[in-house]
Amino acid sequence: MADPVITLHRDAPIGIFDSGIGGLSVLRHVQSLLPDESLLYFADSGFAPYGEKPEAVIVDRAVSIAAFLLTQHIKALVVACNTATAAAIAGLRARYPDLPVVGVEPGLKPAASLTRSGTVGVLATANTLASEKFLKLQSQVAQDASVTFLLQACNGLAHHIEKGELSSRETQQLVEQYVKPLLAQHADTLVLGCTHYPFVEQLIRDVAGPDVNIVDTGEPVARQLQRLLTQRDLLRSTAAAGHLLAYTTGSSSTLSLAFSKLLRLDALVQVVSTTHMSH
Ligand code: DGL
Repeated sequence: MADPVITLHRDAPIGIFDSGIGGLSVLRHVQSLLPDESLLYFADSGFAPYGEKPEAVIVDRAVSIAAFLLTQHIKALVVACNTATAAAIAGLRARYPDLPVVGVEPGLKPAASLTRSGTVGVLATANTLASEKFLKLQSQVAQDASVTFLLQACNGLAHHIEKGELSSRETQQLVEQYVKPLLAQHADTLVLGCTHYPFVEQLIRDVAGPDVNIVDTGEPVARQLQRLLTQRDLLRSTAAAGHLLAYTTGSSSTLSLAFSKLLRLDALVQVVSTTHMSH
């Protein structure tokens, strides 16, 4: 079902959402590339992680979140979650054809141009790796570049990051468990195919060593957003600095802690109850 009419204003905020705090690894690039823009961040922490949930649940959450953010008059939507992009971006674009919608997908193309061994490890959620969208991308890139992709579902990793365990023994063990077999199969490039993983990039680097390429897609996503806003003449026109507001379906203190710890930002956080989110 297509949405009736959406009016987009240049000075309106950009909505960014993820299952939880992972999308902050995208928000930081959006903020540094587009510092004048106002941002609304939505962490669906009450429903995280998405990575091992049925697709129908993720689609339903994505539609509810988009509808909620539209009530806050966003002018563009960033689906800052690989899992939600794979499951729901086509549906969101069909439902809101006038809204600029930017998604995140694992950076297979940049990885294919970086690898020297011809073997690339892809770290992502089980749902992303099993999705039709991802499998299509993989076969396209593998064919064009004759690269072998080793797919590694990292069950539990986003959950630990979500809990703020960025360097706990358990998180370290999970990283070792997922990264070591890829290195043993000669992967020289690792794709961070989940927006939570950049927050444990150092742990991954410690296991992988200095010579392995690590590919994150936060910056290209911010550039794609900038392109879309420019094309649609929707870049903010006001000179005053934009504002930052965050919503969560989980705990407000957890999200404000994540903002300050991960991005050194103070964000005003509001809790959204799911009863206010029906679409
Ligand atoms: N951050 C998300 C992603 O990029 C999902 C993590 C999760 O909720 O499982 O895939």
